[in-house]
Amino acid sequence: MSSPTVLAEAARRRTFAVISHPDAGKSTLTEALALHARVISEAGATHGKAGRRATVSDWMEMEKERGISISSTALQFEHRGHVVNLVDTPGHADFSEDTYRVLSAVDFAVMLLDGAKGLEPQTLKLFDVCHRSGIPVITVVNKWDRPGLDPLELLDQIQQRIDIRPTPLTWPIGIAGDFRGVLDRRLGHAVEYERTSGGATIAGETVHSPDDASTVFGDAWEEAVGGHELLAADGADHDPEEFLAGRTTPVLFAAAALNFGVTQLLDVMLELAPAPRPRLDAQGEPRAVDSPFSAFVFKIQAGMNTAHRDHVAFARICSGVFERGEVVQHTQGGRPFATKYAQNLFGRDRETTDLAYPGDVIGLVNASQLGIGDTLYLGPKVEYPPIPQFAPEHFATISARDTSRFKQFRRGIEQLDREGVVQVLRSTLRGDQSPVLAAVGPMQFEVVTDRLQREFNAETRLDFLPYTLARRIQPADRETLAGINGVETFERSDGTALAVFSDRWRLQFVSRQHPDITFESLSADV
Ligand code: G4P
Repeated sequence: MSSPTVLAEAARRRTFAVISHPDAGKSTLTEALALHARVISEAGATHGKAGRRATVSDWMEMEKERGISISSTALQFEHRGHVVNLVDTPGHADFSEDTYRVLSAVDFAVMLLDGAKGLEPQTLKLFDVCHRSGIPVITVVNKWDRPGLDPLELLDQIQQRIDIRPTPLTWPIGIAGDFRGVLDRRLGHAVEYERTSGGATIAGETVHSPDDASTVFGDAWEEAVGGHELLAADGADHDPEEFLAGRTTPVLFAAAALNFGVTQLLDVMLELAPAPRPRLDAQGEPRAVDSPFSAFVFKIQAGMNTAHRDHVAFARICSGVFERGEVVQHTQGGRPFATKYAQNLFGRDRETTDLAYPGDVIGLVNASQLGIGDTLYLGPKVEYPPIPQFAPEHFATISARDTSRFKQFRRGIEQLDREGVVQVLRSTLRGDQSPVLAAVGPMQFEVVTDRLQREFNAETRLDFLPYTLARRIQPADRETLAGINGVETFERSDGTALAVFSDRWRLQFVSRQHPDITFESLSADV
């Protein structure tokens, strides 16, 4: 495959995730985007949440509930000559480590806010992660068809609480609850929205010149113009460099349930959001997108769907072209990996991927030797940096109920550790029989016990430990801290030495007693 083809294919790709606090409308927006791209003919007008199983991807649930074709991890569609890859993130507040991993695999994020609620706890965390990782964010203020906050107040919240400058690209015509259209600040015209029944088909849109808009919308237009001028005077205009550096966030107003504002979002993504860029390897060297094939694993899904072969590693392509059937190199395993079963998992029946380019997500089936963060490549060897592990807040020991099944139990723990389902901590004190599991959200424990039982036939027993905090220490510090009340030390499977504490007070107390020891926050602490 020639380099110009790979460069052109990469340049027309947009790979992103929609992130939000639960209930802001992520599933609704996903459907609306798919509807606009005509992936599905009609979006479901209702979004019943009953029965959603949190351990399963929301999209799989959507598939089941509504019988529509949405893939379980990456929704790919063509729009105006571009290829859009929308990577799914779990939609619940608890199990968020997966969300952060997905963010390592996208080129930008769309942050959805509920126009009535503004910034919510999960929004703040996610903005923070994007900010620190330099991921550009497009903000969409959703549910503008309902009474909500003043738009300037919303901008103020973003500026004050996240320290990222909002630069609206559209400005609503009509207050929250009376959403009639938007003033497109980039193009200088007005877009009038028209409701369709239940928002099930693409909303009608009429473009008006400023003069016509004044007649059509009356005072609401004058107010929108007033808002626009205020923003312009304040310098809140889009600046491509600032946006790509993650210092500003373009803002759009929408009502996903009515499909209002969705065309503008797609246009902005195609015109302003970044295409795949060279990714830095573990040494900090960029690998050009037209270098030979390379990808890294950011998600592993197993044990969730009995109807299919059930161990899928999802990898994001960083460079080159992927051709199904090729034997690629696996950096961490040091062995070749055959990709005969690569699938893009698009639609109800998994489609087989034959060719994929930088920005695309491929699902590799039967990939139990691959772990989170692993690199695959062809040509010059490359290793991408590991995906940061997150600070666990929940701890429990796990042991096999039936000691004769210990071998299966141990194999299962190793497998789940490699997949990144949970962090596994060890110490001589606890022994091999009952390692300690550390999780960001308690739901991870349920997944572990359930999978050990179903896939490894090992019934287990969990005993919760009274710790809530973990800090990185030097391996040699473990001896110094041995036997101190309220602190325990472990080695994590990636080799990191950790000290865990019951609470902040205990951490402060121990730090004062041992000023020579540095208790480092874990890199991805949020
Ligand atoms: P999530 O994935 O982010 O958790 O949110 P989801 O799309 O499930 O939407 C959460 C609720 O917000 C849903 O209502 C949905 O219909 C509603 N919603 C989403 N976008 C809009 C919008 O633009 N305007 C309005 N007015 N509502 C919106 P629900 O009560 O949970 O379900 P249902 O009554 O719609 O079935």
